[in-house]
Amino acid sequence: MIAYRAALLRFDAAGHALYDEDGLLVVAPDAQGRQRVVDAGDFRAVRARHPEVSVTHWPGRILAPGFVDMHIHFPQLDIIGAPADGLLPWLENYTFPAEARFSDLAHGQEAATFFFDELMRQGVTTALTFCTSHPASVEAFFGEAQRRGLRMLGGKVLQDRHSPDGVRDETEQSLLDTEALIRRWHGQGRLGYAITPRFAPTSTDAQLRGAGELAARYPDTWVHSHVAENKDEVQWARALFPNARSYLDVYASFGLMRERAVYAHCIHFDDADRELMRQTRTAAAVSPTSNLFLGSGFFDFEGAQRLRMPHGLASDVGGGTSFSPFHTMLAAYYVGREGQTKPGVSLAPSRLWWLHTSGAAQALGLEGVIGNLQPGCEADFVVLDPGATPLLARKTARAASLEELLFALIVLGDERVVERTVVAGA
Ligand code: GUN
Ligand code: ZN
Repeated sequence: MIAYRAALLRFDAAGHALYDEDGLLVVAPDAQGRQRVVDAGDFRAVRARHPEVSVTHWPGRILAPGFVDMHIHFPQLDIIGAPADGLLPWLENYTFPAEARFSDLAHGQEAATFFFDELMRQGVTTALTFCTSHPASVEAFFGEAQRRGLRMLGGKVLQDRHSPDGVRDETEQSLLDTEALIRRWHGQGRLGYAITPRFAPTSTDAQLRGAGELAARYPDTWVHSHVAENKDEVQWARALFPNARSYLDVYASFGLMRERAVYAHCIHFDDADRELMRQTRTAAAVSPTSNLFLGSGFFDFEGAQRLRMPHGLASDVGGGTSFSPFHTMLAAYYVGREGQTKPGVSLAPSRLWWLHTSGAAQALGLEGVIGNLQPGCEADFVVLDPGATPLLARKTARAASLEELLFALIVLGDERVVERTVVAGA
């Protein structure tokens, strides 16, 4: 058993922030040897319950849950900042050529190593991740995650049409490969498999149907795709699936909406779509830096809140421009202010933080497992330095409330704030 003393940020079951200026976090291995939080709260109270525990003191620092990125592409590292005239030309000119290189295992391993180094530098401890259509990319991803003891979710991309040579897969083989990868990786330690149709326009009906069958046969896997990101994409999907009520409804009709199904973007939605998301307990991964960069549009936070559509934050690197959860939270704030509805919503700093930690974990079906520092949660956390830069030191010293403190970190923070990232207690 070991304990860490510093300021401590957690969330209650309703998503409200709990903050102890002088806090103590007690961590110990469970029966399976997995490091978990066993107690957390005010230093004096927690210390009194564990008088024997050895305490590591980090004065002036904040302990907070590791960030959870609900949607990211590890093979798109090298195309961050690739300019294009919207989503579809970006895919054709940059994304598919970059992803074609991941048929080579060694290339995937080099990229996975860099990818996890970067996530951890930025304080992200779990990410729902696209690999590529090549099974080798999945091997590279999970192999490296396992070596690091990270809780990571990912899977092989399914795309058997409207895709160039080098990334296009073959219907039957793609489903056999997916099932073999589920059996090999899903539930191995902290790893989870995501059945990953790229998006409806690049899969045949047969591939989507097969993906839905796998989603039913392996109900605790994840489902991961894109929907309603860009107007040209929506028009294309509607032309390809003329019988569906909406683009989202295509996924529903193939059995691809359920708990642990996650769709990136969800911008060009109506209330019936949001209601379908809520009813099926399907979650939206909101990727504001990507949506601003590619000119896709503004996620409707007001509509999501009103319809109680599960949602959380994501970088969507390489459409997204940053791995940093601080940058993503700030972009989400801008989008809330300026978004689809007038007047815009002002997302509270603690709400933005929740959407990238505990709320994202809840949307992924991992509430009480990651994204929080309540007793029972796995010991993935960050140690933040609120004085990491002169301006941050000045600003956070003047913060008169928790909201002001968190907002200073969101607006001015980046990886310089993240002094350490602790994964599974190490
Ligand atoms: N839609 C289909 N594929 C992709 C992708 O790789 N990135 C984004 N942002 N949208 C997509
Ligand atoms: Zn994406």
